[in-house]
Amino acid sequence: MRLELRRVFAAYFLLSVLGLVYALLQLGQPCHSAAQVKAAAEQVRQRDQRVQQLQAEVRRLHTQLRAQGAAGTDGSLPTIYAITPTYARWVQKAELVRLSQTFRHLRNFHWIVVEDADQRTELVAHLLRQSGLHYTHLNMATPPVLKLKDQDPSWLKARGVEQRNLGIRWLRENRELSEEAVVYFADDDNTYSLRLFDEMRWTKRVSVWPVGLVGGMRFEGPLVEQDKVVGFHTGWKPNRPFPIDMAGFAVALQLLLANREAGFDPQAERGYLESSLLQSLVSVEQLEPKADDCRTVLVWHTRTERPKMKQEEALVKEGRGSDLRVEV
Ligand code: UGA
Ligand code: MN
Repeated sequence: MRLELRRVFAAYFLLSVLGLVYALLQLGQPCHSAAQVKAAAEQVRQRDQRVQQLQAEVRRLHTQLRAQGAAGTDGSLPTIYAITPTYARWVQKAELVRLSQTFRHLRNFHWIVVEDADQRTELVAHLLRQSGLHYTHLNMATPPVLKLKDQDPSWLKARGVEQRNLGIRWLRENRELSEEAVVYFADDDNTYSLRLFDEMRWTKRVSVWPVGLVGGMRFEGPLVEQDKVVGFHTGWKPNRPFPIDMAGFAVALQLLLANREAGFDPQAERGYLESSLLQSLVSVEQLEPKADDCRTVLVWHTRTERPKMKQEEALVKEGRGSDLRVEV
């Protein structure tokens, strides 16, 4: 990698010098004809383009090198696999940039991004390539019968279910039972403290912690006595087997691989999605409380407002919106 970078720098330097020499030679030359001038201009343009390409390549290699330093691997640390379902909407790129930059601070981390789409998009593929993270890019469209319509309230149907299940299947097909690692279901819109990942990394079966700003509460979370979960602080359906938000637990990879049938039930009643997985993996007594016996919130169930596009729509209607080629 270092060699390659050095070569790119050398090529870039050589081209710049050649460009300069060429320009200096041209200085003394009389101007022959319009055609000659045009040809020279074209040559300069092509050279500029090449220099720009090389600069982009240098930036890319820089990113990659930096990633190797930060997201480096350390054999003594269990890997964290985060499975993130994501779908196309105006804020998608912003969410994924924010998330990827949080994850960049972690060691031994592997991001499994599953697009709710018939095909993987270039937007997500590009973002992942640039991210400097170890990642796997998958896609699985939610079947139309299970998909929310635009007018539906957001709670009507479960979201991200098929995608998380595909992430689990990928792990079952590509990872060994002997690997010490942990799996976390990280929605693309939440806010994650880096400390959360230190807490979950050494999960033996299923670890749990509180989640902030969820279920109409300041926080929801397990109640802990003498290192054991004895109940749950929740404002809603407290009798669910595991009244825990998706962001509030992580599962040991080995447990997930050993229980080959365990998964999220797309038909689960509202609020029972998390229970549909956890029920087949652990009992409440076996849960491992983290984050100061569940007294510190390290993840928040935030949600980005859907931007109103009134002005944009008006411009498009007038036929003035589309010719500005800006990547948003
Ligand atoms: C809450 C929980 O925190 C989710 O983990 C749970 O999946 C969801 O409820 C549910 O009941 O299904 P909430 O904030 O209401 O989450 O849901 P979203 O953030 O809108 O979606 C959860 C994840 O699924 C996100 O990563 C989102 O990008 C993804 N998603 C959402 C899709 O892949 N496809 C969709 O059509 C909608
Ligand atoms: Mn959300």
